[in-house]
Amino acid sequence: MDMLLEVENLKKSFGGVQAVDDLSFVVQEGSITGLIGPNGSGKTTCFNLISGLLRPDAGSIRFAGREITSLRPSWIARLGIGRSFQIPAPFTRMTVLENVMVGAFSRTRSLGEASRLALEVLEFTGLKEKRDELAANLTTADRKRLEVARALSTGPRLLLLDEVIAGLNPTEVLGAMELIRAIRARGITVFMVEHVMEAVLPLCEWVIVLNFGRKIAEDTPDRIVRNPAVIEAYLGERFRARS
Ligand SMILES: Nc1ncnc2c1ncn2[C@@H]1O[C@H](COP(=O)(O)OP(=O)(O)OP(=O)(O)O)[C@@H](O)[C@H]1O
Ligand SMILES: [Mg+2]
Repeated sequence: MDMLLEVENLKKSFGGVQAVDDLSFVVQEGSITGLIGPNGSGKTTCFNLISGLLRPDAGSIRFAGREITSLRPSWIARLGIGRSFQIPAPFTRMTVLENVMVGAFSRTRSLGEASRLALEVLEFTGLKEKRDELAANLTTADRKRLEVARALSTGPRLLLLDEVIAGLNPTEVLGAMELIRAIRARGITVFMVEHVMEAVLPLCEWVIVLNFGRKIAEDTPDRIVRNPAVIEAYLGERFRARS
């Protein structure tokens, strides 16, 4: 497998808080890779740096061999990085279809083509029946699905998913896992931030762990859950019993 995303010595601070601290890692093309760690450990900041919403203080980000550090978000999206947001913020007064069409317009200027692309994404994400509903009226689970649909609508090669599973009930968790597997089966590389270990462990083939903005471990899920530093910083006693 080739490296699709290469992050090197990335740093970002907010005032006195070192949110991302000399972080380096790669994401392999075709993988589902997890990014985990305690609240405030820098996961979302890392996604904001990759997607261009924030500029790093130092370090570099390469995507498909190309330097993308500090490019504008719209450029990064056009180059093939899509992302969902931890707190879904759809255009609440627009329909589900219109929300997804907004993303599709990054690929086409044609209304008909944007509508066709958006409908295809809605079909794939299981939201087609709800295409005419106002986004404001969706359940939490469907709002999270809409986040994924919006991120897919730009036609990404790499999809950054920020907690699209947290807050779902067990049945919805299984549905979301199935969707993530289907996304990868389409050839899209998935890089996901998630607290729900029951989803992260079976889905991901590689897991990166942050604590206070620093990478404290990266490994396969079965080894991550046995890693003393990861248990100490994040997993607690939950997974010790299994080792
Ligand atoms: N825009 C900002 N301005 C100031 N501080 C920020 C900003 N964004 C993040 N931080 C701080 O940076 C640190 C990392 O935050 P971040 O949101 O990246 O964590 P996280 O790992 O995504 O946490 P969670 O699991 O709770 O979502 C925290 O201390 C947070 O308060
Ligand atoms: Mg976060």
